[in-house]
Amino acid sequence: MSYYQVKSLEQYFKHYNKSIREPRKFWDKIADENFTWYQKWDKVVEFDMQEADVKWFLNAKVNITKNCIDRHLSKRGDKTAIIFEPNDPKEEAQHITYNELYDRVTKMANVLKDQGIKKGDRVCIYLPMIPELAVTVLACARIGAVHSVIFAGFSASAVAARILDSQCKLVVTADGGYRGNKTIELKSIIDEALEKCDCVEKTLVVKRTNSTVTMKEGRDEWLQPLLDAAQPNHVAEIMDAEDPLFILYTSGSTGKPKGMLHTTAGYMVYTAYTFKNIFNYEENDVYWCTADIGWITGHSYIVYGPLLNGATTVIFEGVPSYPDFGRFWEVIDKHKVTQFYTAPTAIRSLAKENWEWVDKYNLSSLKIIGSVGEPINEEAWHWYNDHVGKKKSPIVDTWWQTETGGIMISPIPFVTPTKPTYATLPLPGVQPVLMDERRNEIEDNQVVGSLCIKFPWPGMARTIWGDHQRFKETYFTAYPGKYFTGDGALRDEVGYYRITGRVDDVVIVSGHNLGTAPIEDAINEHPAVAESAIVGFPHDVKGNALYGFIILKESGEDRNRENLKKEINEHISSHIGPIAKLDKIQFVSGLPKTRSGKIMRRILRKIAEGDFSNFGDTTTLLNPEIVDEIKNERL
Ligand code: WT7
Repeated sequence: MSYYQVKSLEQYFKHYNKSIREPRKFWDKIADENFTWYQKWDKVVEFDMQEADVKWFLNAKVNITKNCIDRHLSKRGDKTAIIFEPNDPKEEAQHITYNELYDRVTKMANVLKDQGIKKGDRVCIYLPMIPELAVTVLACARIGAVHSVIFAGFSASAVAARILDSQCKLVVTADGGYRGNKTIELKSIIDEALEKCDCVEKTLVVKRTNSTVTMKEGRDEWLQPLLDAAQPNHVAEIMDAEDPLFILYTSGSTGKPKGMLHTTAGYMVYTAYTFKNIFNYEENDVYWCTADIGWITGHSYIVYGPLLNGATTVIFEGVPSYPDFGRFWEVIDKHKVTQFYTAPTAIRSLAKENWEWVDKYNLSSLKIIGSVGEPINEEAWHWYNDHVGKKKSPIVDTWWQTETGGIMISPIPFVTPTKPTYATLPLPGVQPVLMDERRNEIEDNQVVGSLCIKFPWPGMARTIWGDHQRFKETYFTAYPGKYFTGDGALRDEVGYYRITGRVDDVVIVSGHNLGTAPIEDAINEHPAVAESAIVGFPHDVKGNALYGFIILKESGEDRNRENLKKEINEHISSHIGPIAKLDKIQFVSGLPKTRSGKIMRRILRKIAEGDFSNFGDTTTLLNPEIVDEIKNERL
């Protein structure tokens, strides 16, 4: 594989400049040299950034699983594709070879077809981090079904909303899932969700925890007997470059989650290219990304990116603190992991513990360590660098989004000198720009602005499922002709980027992207609540935590406040999931609002942070007096 790997900073700049001057030629060569196509493209890219219309590799025909599995079989059939490390360290790890992966994916593809799933149908996958999750994702792609993986921590109503939005026909789930010392009853959550989802005809259930479940006659079936009876081969569906590959929901600034749609060829080219360049994967390496496949990181850098490169990828079912705080390091030692990719929130939570938990294990196999999901603060960066990377493995601080499909800004290991808290430079082919308040592009260095991307890249999402207008409004309207990321960034004197955080109503809690609007919607459904506003505030471990300002209805006024807080959090937990619970709840008599009724979150954010220095102009407020009241009663 070639992918333009660069070996020096000088080469990087050369390739970068070339990629910008001739983006079509750049991507054409990468796509041409590294994949198996049924038919190549007539045109590399066609786009209208005003209309949010982007197509890559027009009329090419391909199947991504042929590229992830089949083409490796002659050379790497017996190589381990997936190492499964179970939640319980006493349970034996599984090594699944590329040959075995082929068998398992094709059998699963045949099972799905037997259940009536056809190209274009949506399949919901609600599974714990077990091999069946990757296998089902790939089986969908094999037959051209659109997978919609829902993180197995979402509640029944959040699952139902996602299933309904994309009208899934079939659900693949498990009896339960293990997470540390807890068992999560996934099947009963699905049962509750499906009460509201008429579109689902079938549910296939993986046995993992042997929990007692109810199986609905005619709808639910155990998966294993179907797999046992299935044929272990399958001719992959021929997919057009722009046929949908998957939908993945992410939070937005209104209550409804956004089903980001990724298509086939561009996503394939982009994840393969970024994986190879950022993790420097070499043939005998063992690569481990600790994310969940329920998030984009897992899609792109546990499943697709690594397998497209014929890599060995670890799937870890557990959590960093079980059975103790040494688990990550024990797994690295055990499987001789060479590339390790995790999130700042995990790093911070482990950095709080005694460093002996790390130093006890042999981490000498590590070559590159990565960070993703939110800005990594300086202290966590140094702890990671000193104790895990031992100052010899570069940290790749990778900035990207569900919408971008793959990594956009990141150091290239051993090429780009790292700088704590900086994602550094864009990958060749990626054109970030900073925009000022007057919506002009800022050319200089040592500046801050809103981060936009001014030229399409193959991995970008193509639309929001069922709502192209919203796609256009959210990402392509604020800065016409450019993709707006929703992030603010700083560019230093040498052109390095540092992402400073969201500039919209999204808060990143423990690396999870949470829209404040859906949480407010859930809170407002509580019978005692009149209105609410949620903001993020800095938190040592989670990066950000949530602070809720809540106005009670008259009827709620004399309720016990502590009980109310508990109820509100339980309500959030069952509507969205435990990750969205509030750390602090302050009951207030009003919220600062503009004359047009928009809540001034900027002020609430400052109060939550404890920064009373400068609220900016409050004269446009309808009710300026409320600011002092809220400030004085801050928790
Ligand atoms: C948002 C996207 C990227 C996959 C996981 C999250 C923040 C992500 C970084 C980073 C600073 C980062 C941004 C971005 N973010 N990576 N390295 N440095 N911020 O995907 O849920 O779509 O969230 O995560 O704010 O917009 P996501």
